[in-house]
Amino acid sequence: MQTNKNRLALGTFGTNLSGAISATTVPERWSGSWEDNRELALLADQAGLDFMMPVGRWRGYGGTTDHNSNSFETLTWAAGLLASTQRIRVFGTVHVSLFHPVLAAKQMATVDQIGGGRFGLNIVCGWYEDEFRMFGLSAGDSSTTRYDEGDEWLEIIKRIWSEDAPFDYNGKFFQLKGVKGDPKPFQRPHPPIFNAGFSPRGRQFAKEHADTIFFGVTDVESAAGELKKLKADLTATGRNVGVYTNSFIVCRPTRKEAEEYYHWYAVENADEGAVETMLRGRGYLNRGLPPNAIARLKKRLAGGNGGYPFVGTPDDVAAEMQKVSAIGIDGLALGFVNGLKFLPYIRDEVLPRLERAGLRSAA
Ligand SMILES: Cc1cc2nc3c(=O)[nH]c(=O)nc-3n(C[C@H](O)[C@H](O)[C@H](O)COP(=O)(O)O)c2cc1C
Repeated sequence: MQTNKNRLALGTFGTNLSGAISATTVPERWSGSWEDNRELALLADQAGLDFMMPVGRWRGYGGTTDHNSNSFETLTWAAGLLASTQRIRVFGTVHVSLFHPVLAAKQMATVDQIGGGRFGLNIVCGWYEDEFRMFGLSAGDSSTTRYDEGDEWLEIIKRIWSEDAPFDYNGKFFQLKGVKGDPKPFQRPHPPIFNAGFSPRGRQFAKEHADTIFFGVTDVESAAGELKKLKADLTATGRNVGVYTNSFIVCRPTRKEAEEYYHWYAVENADEGAVETMLRGRGYLNRGLPPNAIARLKKRLAGGNGGYPFVGTPDDVAAEMQKVSAIGIDGLALGFVNGLKFLPYIRDEVLPRLERAGLRSAA
């Protein structure tokens, strides 16, 4: 089940968090306030963007800004935004171990009813140990356990969403009696399900359950081969699965201005402490990477949470997006230093170029 109305879907990423996905100290960094989120949602809806994808985050990354420490819970955030907008899809990013499936099924059905069928689910099984400790849990040393729990969690939710008669569930992680839940979601059989598992077990989970998978693009040339293989595997599952990537955008009238601004916010004014926490938390410091690879990684982590950078003029950005689309990427979750400040230029200059290239239709 693919839900794209545009050949290349575009959405905002992580605006429910202070700093969004840019770990920077520049004063114009994203506030994450409700007023800014609501205004951005109206702007994105009117501009014809396809979705807003939040990040499920429970504590910040430290550093001078305590990056991402001010974080709206994503299902309640989605409910507010869906009630405020007309067309755009709004996701919830839900941590399997932190939301009981009976509760999560009802919350998501409620949010999908509020949005008249515009809710989407991004399932995360978790990796940030400090967050899990707040709940008296462990993210677990083995990703296997987290994704095994995810299998059961999703099975229960799908049964609640599709079955009318009460059922018992006897799994390894959940033992439940007489389960039922109404209302069902507005979208049948269920809202679109996204997943970004990258480990072998995470990938297996994504291939089995997700309607859209996130795939990391380091550079377009090497991604092309890997993506071809992933798409062949997905075709073999017999399901029609989309592939998106996470990214960020710095678009200015000249290439020099765009590159200088990227360097300014992501190197000269990077929130170094927050970037260190990300490097450590995601295990990059144990991989024996050479210093120049670490420096490149740090710039991308500060720039946009490690996503693919679209940096340059409107022509550059549109051309790069065409390249990414040509290797088989169906959608981009886009980070901005400040969406309210920078999305209007992208709406006016980049979107029309993508329309002319046949990747998108007019809003
Ligand atoms: C686009 C994208 C969005 C993600 N959103 C979240 C999130 O909101 N919260 C979170 O804890 N992890 C998030 N993750 C992490 C993934 O769910 C996943 O744990 C990570 O890619 C590592 O894969 P693994 O779990 O298979 O080891 C995200 C990753 C990507 C690429």
